Amino acid sequence: MHTPSDRELLDMAIKAYQNAYAPYSGIQVGAALLAKDGKIYTGVNVENASFGATNCAERTAIFKAVSEGEKDFTTIAIASSLDHIITPCGICRQVMAEFLDKDARIILGDKNTLKVYSLGDILPLMFSKEEFEDKK
Ligand code: THU
Repeated sequence: MHTPSDRELLDMAIKAYQNAYAPYSGIQVGAALLAKDGKIYTGVNVENASFGATNCAERTAIFKAVSEGEKDFTTIAIASSLDHIITPCGICRQVMAEFLDKDARIILGDKNTLKVYSLGDILPLMFSKEEFEDKK
């Protein structure tokens, strides 16, 4: 199976955001998530008139994948309709910490720019499931 490059994943995130449901903020966000087995799951932000019910693109992609039996991810690419790179919100960073590999690549960018980060870069001092490892 062809392993997509970071650029290809980011382009998928850019394409995905066309399906965002963002009538309130107007910010369309897309994510493309690569599972260890090579499958790719995309996600978009889905807003709600009750703003707190909004789901971000990253979590949509991760929850879609987990609901289909995937729990192991190597890369996530995130893009939006903003004229600058979007950075994931705190809740999405925590959800990424739950499911992304320790050395997973977090790709942020747009049509011209691509930056690679790690979980540690974007969520230092994270609280994670490792706290529970010895209690299993
Ligand atoms: N949003 C995302 O989808 N991902 C992020 O990481 C940041 C924020 C969405 C949520 C909401 O629909 C809009 O962007 C404005 O907050």
